[in-house]
Amino acid sequence: MSAGTPAGALRLAARMARLGTEGAFEVLSRAKALEAQGRSVVHLEIGEPDFDTPAHITEAAVKALRDGLTHYSPAAGIPEARAAIAEHVSRTRGIEVGPDHVVVTPGGKPVMFFLMLALVDPGDEVICPDPGFPIYESVARFVGARPVPWALREDRAFRPDPQELRTLLSARTRLVVLNSPHNPTAGVLSRADLEAIADLVRGRPITVLSDEIYSRILYEETFHSPVSVPGMAAQTVILDGFSKAYAMTGWRLGYGVMRPDLAARLAQLMVNSNSCTAAFTQMAGVAALRGPQDCVDRMVAEFRRRRDVIVDGLNRLPGVSCLRPQGAFYAYPNTRGVDPDSGRLADHLLRDAGVATLSGRAFGAQGQGYLRLSYANSVEAIADALGRIGRALERYAVERRV
Ligand SMILES: Cc1ncc(COP(=O)(O)O)c(C=O)c1O
Repeated sequence: MSAGTPAGALRLAARMARLGTEGAFEVLSRAKALEAQGRSVVHLEIGEPDFDTPAHITEAAVKALRDGLTHYSPAAGIPEARAAIAEHVSRTRGIEVGPDHVVVTPGGKPVMFFLMLALVDPGDEVICPDPGFPIYESVARFVGARPVPWALREDRAFRPDPQELRTLLSARTRLVVLNSPHNPTAGVLSRADLEAIADLVRGRPITVLSDEIYSRILYEETFHSPVSVPGMAAQTVILDGFSKAYAMTGWRLGYGVMRPDLAARLAQLMVNSNSCTAAFTQMAGVAALRGPQDCVDRMVAEFRRRRDVIVDGLNRLPGVSCLRPQGAFYAYPNTRGVDPDSGRLADHLLRDAGVATLSGRAFGAQGQGYLRLSYANSVEAIADALGRIGRALERYAVERRV
């Protein structure tokens, strides 16, 4: 038997059957396979800024490498990075946090994973937005918990309804996940929503995971975090990072902000998994937070321009209607008038038009009838995609009539 030849059926631990995945990466690989066959594909599936990381941030990492920051470093993050993040979070959320509230992680995603490992027991319940980022539900199931979907509806501009939360909370609820601005719907929570949510969970043995990874990408609204609502700081864990705000998805740099005793437990999970986040990327993060912020403003202005092009274009298509996103960089059109099955529609758009989008169903049962299109792509590519979609929908209407 040569190395790499399977010796028999792979025997996995039972928990692996409960682990999900992220549809964006699957569609990306199908789109790449089509491109390998010579097809042209416009990529609107993956959620990452297409800009380069600002030069002063990259230079800080290069300098750190030259300075020898190439070794193991403290599991919770290097002191400079924890301090810079604590200052940034204190300033932007109007609260007082110090370096011991901060855990630096390789991307924001590990904060979800570690937090559920640290807080959620088998049989507990985790309330997750539906539609929502699929990893919340995946990890909740992985740790043996029951994800409880909290429906986001178009008639509330996809803001979760606090009245509905009241009916979902139970004695087993351990975690409530909030995500504003929201992936995939682009909904943004108001201060009043957060106060109503806080009134339901404050003082109960429930933690709020506030995924704020898109907090810098906002168009009209101001950003509100549940951590700023009186009495909620000790019960809230902020997940944030550098991927979206500074076009740093490939750097793998994010952080969690939480009460210090919980932060120490997440640092212990870091010791058991990654050991530490690379120190030179953390120095890039310090440069990002302490340096000029006009790079973020320029990116957001460009996203706003693209948002208007894609939303206006989508609303001109028969059977399609799309709210104007207030944050993040996703358009989330209602496509029920074209096909109530959005998986079938997304497949058709990829195969027939060469436009990669995601079915709303990849984000939960409530996503049926919607598509997610990422507009982190050029205006030219977006205009090309809209032309292709328009022509493909005409053919689709004819095909579906016969
Ligand atoms: C809602 C949400 N949270 C977290 C993440 C993960 O971000 P990171 O790349 O920092 O791990 C993403 C990435 O797409 C996201 O959409």
